[in-house]
Amino acid sequence: MHPSFYYPFFLVNLYKQKETPIMSKFVVYISKSGNTKVIAEKIAQVAHYELISLNLMEKKGKGSSGEQAQEEARFMSAIRRCKNAELVFVGTPVIMKQPHPKIAKFVNSVDAKRMAFFITYENDMGFTLKEMKDSAEIRSIRVLGASEYGGLKTGILEQMMDKDKADILIKAEKFALDCLQSI
Ligand SMILES: Cc1cc2nc3c(=O)[nH]c(=O)nc-3n(C[C@H](O)[C@H](O)[C@H](O)COP(=O)(O)O)c2cc1C
Repeated sequence: MHPSFYYPFFLVNLYKQKETPIMSKFVVYISKSGNTKVIAEKIAQVAHYELISLNLMEKKGKGSSGEQAQEEARFMSAIRRCKNAELVFVGTPVIMKQPHPKIAKFVNSVDAKRMAFFITYENDMGFTLKEMKDSAEIRSIRVLGASEYGGLKTGILEQMMDKDKADILIKAEKFALDCLQSI
């Protein structure tokens, strides 16, 4: 067969490759004072997943209108990129016994195939995990697991030495590996 016969098939394959994102596994999180970020980074490192932070600045308040617009663009980009993802780990601090509103909105909007959740909090997580699980499962997204990290005052984890946070990091690593095994 003349090589030119295969050319159209080559083009179709090239197009398919372009359509399917090579990396469709993500860790999406919000962290204002760094606690959730530490766990998110660990999970991303163990799983070799791409890390996406939904918040632009780690400071109090909502920021300027320009910063808010940038955060919105970041949110929309995360929704687009996680569409049909094999697995998205989603992390949030507990705020008033609930997930951060932007994370709640993300879980409600994203069309991933599977999700797993992790949360950090000080002393009362309320129904945060249940709320996130329910909102994924009601849209037929399979939830592979959930992990919670309590006793964390604002900003404490990022300031800790690695040896002091070893137990937490081991727990995060085990959580990531367990979820990966159940894909
Ligand atoms: C505005 C605000 C509300 C919070 N509400 C709760 C809460 O309801 N229950 C709780 O246990 N911790 C609460 N916390 C503590 C945070 O959940 C906890 O310190 C978390 O680890 C912070 O994560 P981050 O550093 O990733 O932002 C709250 C903190 C802030 C700033």
